[in-house]
Amino acid sequence: MIAIATASQKGGVGKTTLCINLAYSLARRGWRVLLIDTDPQGGVGLSLAKSAKTREGFHEFLVRGGDLGQMVVPTRLPELEIVPAGQYDTCARQGWVEHEVPARLADLLRSAELRGVDVVLMDTAAGMSSTTEAVVKACDFVVLPQQAEPLAIRSVPHLLETLARFRAEGAGVRVAGILLTMVMRENEMSLKVARELRDMLPANLMFQQSIPRLSSFLEASALGVPVALTKRNPPPEALIFDQIAAELEQRTGLTHEREKEHGHASLMD
Ligand SMILES: Nc1ncnc2c1ncn2[C@@H]1O[C@H](COP(=O)(O)OP(=O)(O)OP(=O)(O)O)[C@@H](O)[C@H]1O
Ligand SMILES: [Mg+2]
Repeated sequence: MIAIATASQKGGVGKTTLCINLAYSLARRGWRVLLIDTDPQGGVGLSLAKSAKTREGFHEFLVRGGDLGQMVVPTRLPELEIVPAGQYDTCARQGWVEHEVPARLADLLRSAELRGVDVVLMDTAAGMSSTTEAVVKACDFVVLPQQAEPLAIRSVPHLLETLARFRAEGAGVRVAGILLTMVMRENEMSLKVARELRDMLPANLMFQQSIPRLSSFLEASALGVPVALTKRNPPPEALIFDQIAAELEQRTGLTHEREKEHGHASLMD
């Protein structure tokens, strides 16, 4: 099993949209995916399962641990389950003990692994709160969605420095890649930022695929579903997330994990 977090300093860059659509694509590709919403505002739960709004979830787990199975909400894809954010306000009043959070997160990931999950995806709130820092540190990889805007040239190095600090502090988290979002493919400024980032960053740090700014993503959010489910036939942009999923498999060694599993199976035959 691998655990992947998203993170961004800025809000509204498309983290939740990415998590929902990527989780869906990975599940369609046969992986057992658990999407965990760690954002107090809880966008994931609202989108994939209507009942998630009033359910207990991630924040209750931070306060008192418990049985992951009780918190998991199924979706219409058997391979995709979610853990909603839970009732943040109630949990914040009860409080969780800051130094216990890393151990709770380790418990959560262990429980996911025992459940047979292949990929845990953790959506986070914007900024680097202490909870988000703990979530990122607990994961194997982090994907950094970055809006294609001039500020990116300064904010990307800053976020990479923060992640280097986490590693220096003993976390094993690695950058799976920087993913450009909200790219306006007709807009020279947007394309210039994409070019400059590719030139500035080490080769391979950026995903080949990027996410265009399209009204269909807005519509999908409003309907609360992955973009692939907005129409009877998935619109072409749904394929973008399949390509991102395929790239992510390569970047995180997920394909290799499956080969290992198959290797065992053939040995047992
Ligand atoms: N590629 C896109 N094209 C057009 N609109 C988009 C795209 N991605 C996201 N959006 C819209 O932008 C808004 C913010 O997206 P989203 O909620 O995914 O960002 P976020 O990073 O999770 O925000 P927050 O930091 O508040 O959690 C939403 O209304 C969403 O529908
Ligand atoms: Mg969000």
